[in-house]
Amino acid sequence: MTTNKVTKAVFPVAGLGTRFLPATKSIPKEIMTLVDRPLIQYAIDEARAAGIKEFIFVTSRGKSALEDYFDNAPELEAALKKPGKEHLLDVLESTNMESGAIAYVRQHKALGLGHAVWCARRLIGDEPFAVMLPDDVIAAEKPCLQQMVEAYEQTGGNMVAAMEVPPEKASAYGVLSVAEDMGSIVKVNGMVEKPKENPPSNLAVIGRYILTPQVLNNLNRKKEGAGGEIQLTDAIAEEIDDSGKVYGFRFRGQRYDCGSKAGFLQATVAFGLARPELREEFSGYLHDMMALEKAAQ
Ligand code: UTP
Repeated sequence: MTTNKVTKAVFPVAGLGTRFLPATKSIPKEIMTLVDRPLIQYAIDEARAAGIKEFIFVTSRGKSALEDYFDNAPELEAALKKPGKEHLLDVLESTNMESGAIAYVRQHKALGLGHAVWCARRLIGDEPFAVMLPDDVIAAEKPCLQQMVEAYEQTGGNMVAAMEVPPEKASAYGVLSVAEDMGSIVKVNGMVEKPKENPPSNLAVIGRYILTPQVLNNLNRKKEGAGGEIQLTDAIAEEIDDSGKVYGFRFRGQRYDCGSKAGFLQATVAFGLARPELREEFSGYLHDMMALEKAAQ
């Protein structure tokens, strides 16, 4: 099927990050690091791998460290142009962004994820776009958004990344009601944001989306949903009746909820162990820690 290429991604980063207070009093959550890379860098790398060329950040007060992170750092670069420092210079230069590739819009009040995406509507225009929540970090052989772009080329329409969760955890997510299960792609006939009981399936929506511009029109009506917030899932769910083209995508990979303390710590361990230069020392330490824990019980 012929679909328009997805070249724009929206990164909503205007939330308050209250679960990481007091750190988020002065540090945007997205700048917090897994090993040595800020969360936002993982999201940018994933977006680039999927062919994204324009990066739209929805920011808010107190996020200037995030904007500065994407500026080139000429003093640092000059200091690293020395024999023996080439690898550090490479690390630094790999984070440089092309001039004009990044745009920032402000969300003046944290009215919800749907509202944050709506704030980017003029920059998105009339084409399909991706939405990536940087606090969902996904370790995968093929980056998650790239998997989705490939699946979207078959389906068109709207696609959300989906992950199986146990029923007792469903109330923390948007949950899909499945009309047709085609394996990695499922056709969706309903979406419930944070179901208090009886979730319609065990497939939960996580922070990767490919959306049509019609979803922005739905957000124009700014309806409050669960928790009094303007929910992105509600605006996507409207497309089930309107276009009939809403799909869930079971990605291959491990997702870490780095918006929560436990998820952030789990990701730190996983990404630390995945680094060849840290693996031996770090796994030895973890092993000793676990032995001490066991002995203390
Ligand atoms: P969260 O639900 O994790 O909220 O938002 P939060 O404010 O970041 O964190 P807590 O719950 O207070 O600890 C999910 C994503 O949606 C963005 C957030 O920045 C995060 O990337 N978001 C949420 C907005 O951009 N604006 C909003 O009004 C709400």
